[in-house]
Amino acid sequence: MTPEAFFAALWRDYLPLAPSAERVHAVLGGGAPIINDHIALRTFADPRIGLEALEPHFLAMGFAVGDHYRFQAKKLRARYYRHPDPTVPKIFISELLLDECSDALRATVAPLIDAIPDAAPADPLFVSSGRHWSVPQATYEALLAESEYAAWLAAIGFRANHFTVSVNQLPGYDSVAQVNAKLQAEGFALNASGGLIKGSPEVMLEQSATLADRVPVDFADGVQTIPGCFYEFAYRYPQADGQLYQGFVEASADKIFESTDAR
Ligand code: NI
Repeated sequence: MTPEAFFAALWRDYLPLAPSAERVHAVLGGGAPIINDHIALRTFADPRIGLEALEPHFLAMGFAVGDHYRFQAKKLRARYYRHPDPTVPKIFISELLLDECSDALRATVAPLIDAIPDAAPADPLFVSSGRHWSVPQATYEALLAESEYAAWLAAIGFRANHFTVSVNQLPGYDSVAQVNAKLQAEGFALNASGGLIKGSPEVMLEQSATLADRVPVDFADGVQTIPGCFYEFAYRYPQADGQLYQGFVEASADKIFESTDAR
């Protein structure tokens, strides 16, 4: 599968969960194509569907492994993949470390993972295959109490959690602050956790994000409106060698995760 086909499929799957995304494109791009810096994926740390299990898909599309990250409080581990073509978005993927979660959470999540057909993760588009299970609303609420990440994944499933506009490659803008001002003037709600702008020139990366669109989700016992997916904006600063920094910043990513918080 080519990166182009991969991202096109993820974008089609993402739009119904982030209906604001097309308006973001219209507002920032005026109808012109927008180059994305990265997308983000979420999964559970399980040998069948964890980071190591999914990595071969990204390598097969020509991506190389970038840095690794750890989010202690959220019990997450992450890494990113970078393509030699700078106009191809990076892939940032995180996993929930189930070993560090409560017995109750593990007992709730185990049957969800078990419901995934054995062959499904072998498809490169597994990461946008959605949910392979049905959960009652009470299960979602119980997961929320321990892990917003687990609750989101249980309710929404495997799909692009966000796309990220490359502000460096966005005509007419040269800062995240400008993008934020435009979006706020157009009525978008932004993630204010840790401030509207996460990061700084000192860490060579500035990011902001919309709050996830609230979307109706089918639970086993009815429909509930919950946070779906969101859009992020990233501006990268040059390193000493003149190349733009391509990695991520743990403290900033930690706050970006909260764009899907339900409470
Ligand atoms: Ni991101």
